[in-house]
Amino acid sequence: MSLSIRSIGWVLVSALLIQYAARADASSSETLISNSTGSEGQRGEKFLSLFSIVRFPNSLCLASNSYNGTCLTTAECSAKGGTASGSCASGFGVCCVLTIQTCGATTSLNNTYWQNNGFSSAYTTAGQCSLFVSRASSDVDQLRLEFLTFTLAQPDSATLSTTGQCITDSFTVSGSANIVPAICGSNANQHMYINIGPGTSTVTLSIITSGTSTSRYWNIRIIQIPENTDYTAPDNCLQWFTEASGKLVSFNYQYATSPVVQHLAYQDYTMCIRTNQGFCGVKYDLCTPTASYPYGISTKADGTVADGTLMDASCPYDWLQIPCVSDQANSIVTSVGTTVGCASKLCGITGFTVTADATTATTSLYSYRRPFEVRFYTDSKEFLVTAAAAENWGFCLTYTQQPCLSSATSG
Ligand SMILES: *[C@@H]1O[C@H](CO)[C@@H](O)[C@H](O)[C@H]1NC(C)=O
Ligand SMILES: *[C@@H]1O[C@H](CO)[C@@H](O)[C@H](O)[C@H]1NC(C)=O
Ligand SMILES: *[C@@H]1O[C@H](CO)[C@@H](O)[C@H](O)[C@H]1NC(C)=O
Repeated sequence: MSLSIRSIGWVLVSALLIQYAARADASSSETLISNSTGSEGQRGEKFLSLFSIVRFPNSLCLASNSYNGTCLTTAECSAKGGTASGSCASGFGVCCVLTIQTCGATTSLNNTYWQNNGFSSAYTTAGQCSLFVSRASSDVDQLRLEFLTFTLAQPDSATLSTTGQCITDSFTVSGSANIVPAICGSNANQHMYINIGPGTSTVTLSIITSGTSTSRYWNIRIIQIPENTDYTAPDNCLQWFTEASGKLVSFNYQYATSPVVQHLAYQDYTMCIRTNQGFCGVKYDLCTPTASYPYGISTKADGTVADGTLMDASCPYDWLQIPCVSDQANSIVTSVGTTVGCASKLCGITGFTVTADATTATTSLYSYRRPFEVRFYTDSKEFLVTAAAAENWGFCLTYTQQPCLSSATSG
């Protein structure tokens, strides 16, 4: 007796279903039935004397366990495999939360949480664990994955030829229209956007583990994003930041001096910052400028890092690419290698200043090119075989959008 018209996002519920669903909650049951009877009597409409129609959007709701759910009828929630946690739509719906802890499951419910089996206890099983995600509605063309908890084995640090590679454990995405790098290590609070191509019905998220001695944990929120909204990320952006300021952090970056953890090999992705109205540039700073290990991106073929802040031709292996980046605020910077030059690639250690002499001070950097984008590229080898070598721990940058000034470039 329940009809769902997904394309307009409303749920129609027949009078019988309301009586059934409301039985658990006697007060709303009485109110509802007397209200509908009254309006039918006044209007004298025969159709309404057979069916009362209650409509409510399948919108986001906050569940009583503080997870985000979808407002559905009790019957729809159990058909989706979810758990009712609190009510919504003035009591006509339940806040339906779907947490999946099994491997090989399928979901099409917005705001699904995918957790390791036994979460929040550790998962030590070796093998492949996948989740198949299909569209919640036909207008969905993107997923936003939020890594609420994400701990897998660290990348290899023992064999020179494979340092930085996700060899013991990896998280991978297949079926996406964009290229998603495999990641491992610690990635809580990171996110990713996954594009779903028009001919694709399912995207597969997989965690592939080997060995039983690693304690893994994951809790990944999967948000389904319709096309052409103001929160749909541009196609080329694996990460998308919509605030005026925030942090760009390499996967598996952990600020620690012992052990120093390295960034991942085989990365090539773009972090994009949505240009706020009236903003013309971005300032980038090190998250912890006074720390000993704020920044380290390898500069040599073996994955080691030479001293100094390096740029452009000195960064052939791994780099951060920021269009025409310099230490000059509010100025039009066009040339490279003169007193006031700009660079496009950065690597090295400690911090950065982009001037002709590429000194190592930890100075703010600015870029006035739109769209605001930072690309991170790494090759097959990072390096942590001996602790004595210069380390390769990745980056943590804060970004701050810079307002347009009349004297500034509009890039
Ligand atoms: C039902 O009727 C009561 C009393 O007239 C009113 O307070 C309430 O808002 C109505 N509820 C709905 C859902 O129309
Ligand atoms: C619920 O959503 C809000 C807004 O996106 C977010 O801040 C919060 O962390 C979410 N909670 C969970 C458990 O996902
Ligand atoms: C999924 O939920 C998010 C909020 O978490 C919302 O912004 C988005 O529009 C929803 N997607 C669909 C397809 O309804």
